[in-house]
Amino acid sequence: MAQLETSDFAQAVIDRMADCQDARFQEVMTALVQHLHAFAKQVDLQPDEWMNAIQFLTAVGQKCDERRQEFILLSDTLGLSMLVVALDQARGAKALAGKPGDKPTEATVQGPFFWPGAPQVELGADIAEGQHGDPTLYHGKVTDTFGKPIANCVMDVWSGDHDGLYDMQKGDSMALRAQLRTDQDGNYRFWSIRPTFYPVPVDGPVGQMLDRMGRHPNRPGHMHMMLQAPGHERLVTHIFVKDSPYIESDAVFGVRNSLVIDFPKHAPGKAPDGRTMSKPYYTAHYDFRLVPSA
Ligand code: BEZ
Ligand code: FE
Repeated sequence: MAQLETSDFAQAVIDRMADCQDARFQEVMTALVQHLHAFAKQVDLQPDEWMNAIQFLTAVGQKCDERRQEFILLSDTLGLSMLVVALDQARGAKALAGKPGDKPTEATVQGPFFWPGAPQVELGADIAEGQHGDPTLYHGKVTDTFGKPIANCVMDVWSGDHDGLYDMQKGDSMALRAQLRTDQDGNYRFWSIRPTFYPVPVDGPVGQMLDRMGRHPNRPGHMHMMLQAPGHERLVTHIFVKDSPYIESDAVFGVRNSLVIDFPKHAPGKAPDGRTMSKPYYTAHYDFRLVPSA
């Protein structure tokens, strides 16, 4: 029987997939096997190192539950989530190349703190009631890439609190998250806080990995947004606070220049939505452009 040598194992695995019925799965698995074997050879992977890696991945899985997604965190901190987002947008941009219309709003990572079923609120609602933090009016317009306003666009918005903690990290009740809909002219507005920078969860194996890599775990301040409207591609993105610490070194590589905006501070008085503010407040203005579905 012909014996396999170090140079043969990858091809032997690939050859065994000859009867695979799913062409895309076969393509992905072929490349995965090739790259995994090339990686092991490149670093001359030793048995104890591979066992450490298996124990690490086991710990990542064991840390997961309905609220905690350590695998997403691993993917995020290795830059893979953002690469997949960027590849998806590049694919979309290629499909739109040469066609009329403006560029769509850039996407970024969803992260592990989206919680479906957030309270539905009216336009102009304050979703930070009872929370500490700098009051901020978020407002703007949702259009398609041709500038046509999108009425009734469903917007999920969520952020951490004044100390950078998400509701999911603190308990069972939702806070600082909501779902709202744009008005007939595509406008949206709501009040929340100006988000602060915060560390991704570091009390698990991914935290240990970051530490060992000599990396900080922080993300710059941002408000998460997910926009969905019939006839349009779903957009998952953030608005980033321009002068936030870590804006240049996001632990999950999610910052896109087009998503970084000023949060100007205003003296007490009448805010742009007509609300009278008794203390200083901030505004965050951002217009979103969604891609019409093919
Ligand atoms: C977040 O922004 O909520 C987040 C994203 C990636 C990893 C951890 C947190
Ligand atoms: Fe976040």
